[in-house]
Amino acid sequence: MRRDEGRECMSSECCSTNDAGDGTMDLLFRPRGVAVIGASSNPGKIGYRIVANMVASGYDGRIVPINPKGGEVDGIPVLKSLADAEGPIDVAVISIPAPLVADTVRSCGEAGVRHLVIVTSGFSEVGNTEDERDIVRVAREYGMRVLGPNIFGVYSAKSAMDATFGPGGIEPGHVAIVTQSGALGIAMIGKTAGESLGLSALVSVGNKSDIDEADLLGYLADDEATRVILLYIEGVKAGDRLVRALRETTRRKHVVVIKSGRSQRGAMAAASHTGSLAGADDVFDDVMRQCGVLRAESVQEAFNWVRFLSSAPLPSGRDAVIITNGGGIGVLATDACEKHDVALFDDQLLLKETFSGVMPDFGSSKNPVDLTGQASADDYRKALDAARVTEGMDATIALYCETGLFNTAGFSALLRETYAQYETEKPIVFSLFGGERVERLIRDVRRDGIPVFGDVYEAVSALGALYSSWNHRRQPADEGARGGEAALDLASVRDVLQKAGATGRGFLLPQEAAVVADVLGLSLPTSRIARTLDDAVRLANEIGYPVVMKIVSKDIIHKSDAGGVAVDLENDNEVVDAYQAILQSCRAAVPDAVIDGVEIVEMVSAGVETIVGARQDGSFGPVVMFGLGGIYVEVMKDVAFRAAPIDEKTANRMIGDIRAYPLLLGVRGESRKDIDSIAAVLVRLSQLIAQCPEITDIEINPLVVYDRGQGVKAVDVRILFSVPKGVK
Ligand code: COA
Repeated sequence: MRRDEGRECMSSECCSTNDAGDGTMDLLFRPRGVAVIGASSNPGKIGYRIVANMVASGYDGRIVPINPKGGEVDGIPVLKSLADAEGPIDVAVISIPAPLVADTVRSCGEAGVRHLVIVTSGFSEVGNTEDERDIVRVAREYGMRVLGPNIFGVYSAKSAMDATFGPGGIEPGHVAIVTQSGALGIAMIGKTAGESLGLSALVSVGNKSDIDEADLLGYLADDEATRVILLYIEGVKAGDRLVRALRETTRRKHVVVIKSGRSQRGAMAAASHTGSLAGADDVFDDVMRQCGVLRAESVQEAFNWVRFLSSAPLPSGRDAVIITNGGGIGVLATDACEKHDVALFDDQLLLKETFSGVMPDFGSSKNPVDLTGQASADDYRKALDAARVTEGMDATIALYCETGLFNTAGFSALLRETYAQYETEKPIVFSLFGGERVERLIRDVRRDGIPVFGDVYEAVSALGALYSSWNHRRQPADEGARGGEAALDLASVRDVLQKAGATGRGFLLPQEAAVVADVLGLSLPTSRIARTLDDAVRLANEIGYPVVMKIVSKDIIHKSDAGGVAVDLENDNEVVDAYQAILQSCRAAVPDAVIDGVEIVEMVSAGVETIVGARQDGSFGPVVMFGLGGIYVEVMKDVAFRAAPIDEKTANRMIGDIRAYPLLLGVRGESRKDIDSIAAVLVRLSQLIAQCPEITDIEINPLVVYDRGQGVKAVDVRILFSVPKGVK
């Protein structure tokens, strides 16, 4: 059944993100019939395990095992060919050796299959990109979508379908996992089952030949059963699609990501500062934060978060209260709150009013509220209840240190009852610290989904994740992606690029870069080239003192090293001296250099030096960068990235992200710098890099920032671009 009217394009590089709109993705998760091609009666084979798992999970559609040998698998008759199948088959899970897959794909198309779930390995992951492309091409001819190849399958709670070769036992629930790693994904099945963490979906994306994370996010964002999405990502292919999908999804669902490769700093080819600073992981980290995605450090942390996020209600305010029976653990929790950005309720009067009746005189009603070591289960019950009903106390962190006085027999009931009361009202996390009895208690109540942790930091980090996701949702959406904020004169930029490109040059000369700077709303320092001493004096007077002088020679690359630069020249005499000194030192340093003259440049007055850049990132497409100049950028790598385009609010948050931000706010009596002007430049730059894909790198370095209201000044703008093919 060829579908010439099918999707125009199925490549993950160019498809629209949200497939849920046309409903086809729904058939992957709720198929009416599933063929397992390569179904085997041999229990040691993947083709057997998939059928057995589907039977065991209670799949609510028809299971159609296919094998030319016929027979039966797990009690289900096997068809010799897909053509013999009756009724709609929406999904075909393929588990036969790679060389046989292409023919099978065609027969699936003829049988009207909509989704191929290709388990088979031996494609692009081992360099066999050609066969993989062929499969996608044929699938496209028939309007089919491809999950995989090189995957362990798919689970969907909606249709009770465990079409994986995992260990089985997946419980339905509210967490969707999308994983690029097969081995880790399969292990996650066992782990989630062991921790009684219910899943709404589990999808292995493998080589992402067609369906990728962006497609799945588009679907899962609208899936009612899914409350949290956990992504395990190894590499990003079409990052700009992923960014769009994440931006949309995090408005409605919590998204947690684990990405390997954190340590690959600076792996990219560096044509500029922006490039050398754009270590793949740094960009990933910043872009995820921009999209409101929670990045977990480890699989365990991710599991802690998703478990909590899948059941916790959203808070209605930002202030948490800590209730403890130990001062030390209370202080630890306070530290953890600071680390994970959880604010503490601070109305001392209300704290006293609320808690003084539920603790001995020597307790403390300040936050942390210390019920003291002699606190009983009843004291806890009263205090936790008081925190729950008090307005303004938006979340509760309940801590317990094991004591000999406390009767733990009723503790399990206390935790369960308290949690049941909080469950739909306010977020609560528990941390219990003690010996074997306490450990057993934790294991026992966790199984019922109660957010109890052994470690205070783990408990607070889960609450911090909730706050981070909530904060993101409350912020207005970034309007940058919708275009408009900066209407740029792109025609002028394209004209300059075209003319420069015609010469075969991949970079702009200063006067050409000045045109682009102008489009960005920046004026570069006035500059003229002097060929004689008289020229130099005349031009310096025309430009106005003070001036800078620089040697102009294509043979002298490191101008300062050759003595080719003089700064802060204030009068004619200094210009005369500098002119002669520059020529003399440059001739001595590079005797054969052809000298074209000396550039006289307006001296930019001092301010805070920043660096602003933009580039086409290998993973995420257009990105912008901001940092403070000098050691901050060279040594500390104190820079922030965002996927472009961005709006002014995002630009401001990005500026606020760098560690040296307080310097821009003004320290030691200095006044606040013109942050709004930096943000305006970043917005325009982000629009430019997003709208001109031929520009590969722009760097404004330094961008000198003056006091608030005084603006910014670009000293130098460097622009690299891709020369159109065929131009040498
Ligand atoms: N249609 C249907 N069944 C077919 C077939 C066809 N065109 N051609 C062969 N088969 C049958 C075989 O006869 C066999 O059945 P049998 O056990 O009754 O003999 C069954 O399909 C499987 O074929 P077989 O040749 O035995 O392959 P296999 O099961 O050993 O391996 C894969 C197949 C797909 C599992 C293997 O090639 C592979 O890719 N393994 C790696 C999978 C993986 O790790 N994926 C990533 C996980 S993250």
